[in-house]
Amino acid sequence: MTGHRFDDITVESLMETGSMKWTRMPGHLAAFVAEMDFGTAPAVTQSLQNSTDKALWGYLPPAVTRDMSQATSEFLNTRYSWDVPSSRIYPTADVLSAYEVVLERFTKPGSAVILPTPAYMPFLTLTPLRGREIIQVPMIEGEGGRLEMDLEGIAAAFDQGAHLMILCNPHNPLGRVYTESELLALADVVEAKGGVVFSDEIHAPITFDDHAHIPYASLNETTAAHTLTATSASKAWNIPGLKCAQLIVSNDDHQASMKDIAFIVSHGAATPGVAANTAAYRDGGEWLEDVLGYIDDNRALLSGLLATHLPEVTYREPEGTYIAWLDAKGLPDIKGDRSWAQFFSDEARVGLTDGALCGEAGVDHLRLMLSTPHHILEKIVIAMAEAVRKHES
Ligand SMILES: Cc1ncc(COP(=O)(O)O)c(C=O)c1O
Repeated sequence: MTGHRFDDITVESLMETGSMKWTRMPGHLAAFVAEMDFGTAPAVTQSLQNSTDKALWGYLPPAVTRDMSQATSEFLNTRYSWDVPSSRIYPTADVLSAYEVVLERFTKPGSAVILPTPAYMPFLTLTPLRGREIIQVPMIEGEGGRLEMDLEGIAAAFDQGAHLMILCNPHNPLGRVYTESELLALADVVEAKGGVVFSDEIHAPITFDDHAHIPYASLNETTAAHTLTATSASKAWNIPGLKCAQLIVSNDDHQASMKDIAFIVSHGAATPGVAANTAAYRDGGEWLEDVLGYIDDNRALLSGLLATHLPEVTYREPEGTYIAWLDAKGLPDIKGDRSWAQFFSDEARVGLTDGALCGEAGVDHLRLMLSTPHHILEKIVIAMAEAVRKHES
């Protein structure tokens, strides 16, 4: 685990760089937002340099879009054996704006949305802003204690009037990478209820061990027909500020109705970001494999650090994503009225996400990013442990 160039990255250098992660909570060790501390791939930097050299910062040229759609199609095929024509892949600003389009264009007006929880926080806040109710369906413990979707709960939510279900795979914050049989079982429920799936696959390239990502719409014709998929190079190559994601349309009727909205869907996508996504998908593989190896080590490192310093906090190593979901329920009763995130912010100067923001199922949990140098991860856990030890005595 030693000798990697990421080990030379310091807290001071990260703060000086000025990312959102390292400036929003001044004086904190930052682990709350899904950004990486590792910069990005040389291919992405080169692409941005090319955009700069040409001052290619105007509206999105059709050739830049076509190139991105083609590169995404090739990436999906090579990495997941998913054969998607490039004409079905649309640029959009980000996954959340793809979600808004799906919500407003492809679901019954005003219908509720099913969200397995805990979930990525903005789904809980954005959906009501768009006038839709969220029906939270807490995940349930399955095989060996891993959390799984509650299919009966999801079926009941469709019966209550929901039309859209948000599938997040690989899952933020749980780090689950759903198996083929789990996805097929979900597909049976969705199809039986006449539902639509928004499949958020933004973390798709980030998986570990033998947990292979399976795009939901790639399973069969049925899932292809009831799904709209969103993905991006933004998580795996650490470029969310470049504002480009992909909306993938696998249903023929949906594709027909994209004609009149394709311009609006793509309008928020940044021209240099679209080119950068192309470069990441096409030439960013080597950098990504290196990063995945480093984060893989962090998965085990965190297990060891918690066992040594903070055994009351438990976690299962994520199967995908660089997000660790910590269960803090075993900690002593020392936080008062505060959430654990507030306690660790106040007492340890560590910035974590309060699990309650991920839905009711997330109360007394924390989200911690593993996308950081090993020595910073160690500092984070030790600072947390010291705060607990100080207050319990
Ligand atoms: C599961 C998930 N979906 C969506 C997003 C937001 O993506 P975007 O910035 O493309 O809207 C994130 C960001 O972390 C995420 O983890």
